[in-house]
Amino acid sequence: MTQAPIRIGVIGAGGIGNVHIETFKQIPEAEVRAVTDAYLPLAEKRAEEHEIPVVHNSPEAMLADSEIDAVVIGVPNQFHAPLAVEALKSGKHVLLEKPMAIDSANARAILDAKMASGKTLMMAHQMRWNPIIRGIKEYIDNGSVGRIYNAKAGWCRKKGIPGWGSWFTRKDQAGGGPLIDLGVHMLDVSLYLMGSPRPVSVYGTTYAEFGPQRQGIGSWGTPNWDGYYDVEDLATAMIKMDNGATLTLDVSWAAHSTGIGEDPFLHLMGTEGGVSMLGSTGKFVTHDEEGVAETDIQPLEGESDRVLLSRHFLECVRTGREPITSGMSGYTNNRILDAIYESSRIGGEVKLIWN
Ligand SMILES: NC(=O)c1ccc[n+]([C@@H]2O[C@H](COP(=O)([O-])OP(=O)(O)OC[C@H]3O[C@@H](n4cnc5c(N)ncnc54)[C@H](O)[C@@H]3O)[C@@H](O)[C@H]2O)c1
Repeated sequence: MTQAPIRIGVIGAGGIGNVHIETFKQIPEAEVRAVTDAYLPLAEKRAEEHEIPVVHNSPEAMLADSEIDAVVIGVPNQFHAPLAVEALKSGKHVLLEKPMAIDSANARAILDAKMASGKTLMMAHQMRWNPIIRGIKEYIDNGSVGRIYNAKAGWCRKKGIPGWGSWFTRKDQAGGGPLIDLGVHMLDVSLYLMGSPRPVSVYGTTYAEFGPQRQGIGSWGTPNWDGYYDVEDLATAMIKMDNGATLTLDVSWAAHSTGIGEDPFLHLMGTEGGVSMLGSTGKFVTHDEEGVAETDIQPLEGESDRVLLSRHFLECVRTGREPITSGMSGYTNNRILDAIYESSRIGGEVKLIWN
């Protein structure tokens, strides 16, 4: 028996909202039924472009619509928690953009609302479905890497501050700079591949050497010269796990650096071998009689990361299964990000207590 498509409402019709609309349109098990945006003409434009039948004039109207089963939330970070909590309370399943929230207190509020509602809450960390990451995961799952005890991950843009002065560069609206913007992707995928150990201790430092001088600005996003910049432009941190493993994280929007490319990178070191990602390429490394042996890891073929992520969301909504990018994983990421900012502020280690 064929089931009716899951009816999706998209809250936030900007850059990422449009990507979600385009992705769900490719999947027959979903119907993009409604769209809304704080700037209504943009929602109307998206509706026209994508033949979306309903434009709601507010998120509240979307959440009151009984013909919507699930919402995608793709708005500036400060609105993630209030909208996700309301959506879950209204009985909608939620696919939420990263970071889960501007801080862990807000992320906790979302998690509590999810538990009270019994609805699906999934974080949109598409990198977990990246073809190279899936290839790397196969090496880990088949035992070729052994026990992972150290990881290095990062994403170091040299001149890539997005939308200077817009919500992206304001602490109260974004929660932070490249750490919460790019770092959260690398943190999420690293913890996933390391087998989701529990983080127990964090040491980190953040810097703002370019943004406040209006330097290091990239081509992405629209600057608002009447706005301001009060977030970091570089962060470096070490995170220690309860199983003794360590993860070092390096991220920047702007930096004077050579030697590392602009692409996201990840190196996982295990007792049997190591796996690495640099942009869209992957390597497996181990020792043999000749010395160090390297093999290319092939990207796994198939549907795009975003289609796979969206299919996973639909399946979790249908079955009640917990998404692999669960609310708990988003909350854990936010706890670590908070701890890095706190460590930088106090100039020392921050221990994470879980209860
Ligand atoms: N997964 C990824 O790789 C990825 C990529 C880009 C952005 N993002 C995330 O997506 C979110 C949005 O980023 P973006 O690049 O699309 O930003 P954007 O500025 O292009 O779009 C945000 C849209 O939200 C609308 N908006 C603002 N407040 C709203 C509210 N309260 N209710 C309804 N609409 C509202 C704005 O009018 C705007 O159209 C951010 O959290 C960002 O971190 C994730």
